Order: sequence, then structure tokens, then C-alpha cells
Amino acid sequence: MKLAIVNGANLNMLSYRETEHYGSLTYDDLINKIKDNLPDIFTYVDFFQSNIEGEIINYLHKITREDYDALIINPGAYAHYSYAIYDALLIFKGYKIEVHLSDIYQRDDFRKKLVTAPACNEIISGQGVNSYLLALASLVDIYS
Ligand code: DQA
Repeated sequence: MKLAIVNGANLNMLSYRETEHYGSLTYDDLINKIKDNLPDIFTYVDFFQSNIEGEIINYLHKITREDYDALIINPGAYAHYSYAIYDALLIFKGYKIEVHLSDIYQRDDFRKKLVTAPACNEIISGQGVNSYLLALASLVDIYS
């Protein structure tokens, strides 16, 4: 199974950002935690991070053309307003899970509006790094 894990705006700045919301792990720590907990069914996993909306869209087009089976995406703040990423997610037909480290429902009002999540099959929020690990577990349930 080919899996893509996408992180959007400002997620490369983990550990410099509000640690009360995002914890003290660095972006590399996050990726390593995911790699350490990768279930066997994922024979190929690609990681992508960008702070540029168009690059994320282009990447979603690439994994669509390359027939990836599944996607875990944390769009960062794009989750709250990017209709262009929403449209790109609709084109990708694999199973899609949107994740957030923080509990977006317990923060600023603008974070409660989710624009990209309706294009996904599931949303997991507020579990820190475990949001990604729960998404992996969910994909295992679906694909095995
Ligand atoms: C976030 C939540 C977003 O509201 C915020 O803009 C982020 C990170 C999260 O993982 O909790 O950049 O996606």
C-alpha cells in the first residue's frame, strides 16, 4: 500500500510554536515517531511538508496520478479556509484522513470551521502525535 503523509503550513516549526497546543516535539521527531510506528501494510510511505498552498495542491495531484492508496493530511491553517486544497482532495480517490495535533474545537472560533475535512473520510484532532498514529491504525482497519 502506498501512503502519503502531508503536513501544511507552519508544521515544520513544531517545537518553536505554541508548545501548549502542539507539544515540544520537532517536525523531525514527529516524522520519526510515525516511521517507528508504521504498520507493515504500508509498503511505501512518502512524507511531504510545505508552507505553500499551490505546492500542496501539486503534491495531491502527483499522488493521485501515481495511484497512492491513502493519505493522512494535516493542512495546518489551510484546513480552515483553503477551498483549493478541498478541491484537490476531492480528486484523490484513496482513503483520506485529516489530522490535527491540537483540539481545534477548544481553541479560537475560526479553527472550528473546517473547509478541507469534508473532502476526507475521517478527521482526528486533539491527540498530539497520536492523531497521526490513530490515523495509521484506522487505515490498517480499512485496508486489512
Ligand atoms: C493544526 C491546527 C490549526 O488550526 C493550526 O493552524 C495549525 C496546526 C494542528 O495540528 O493542531 O497550524 O493543524
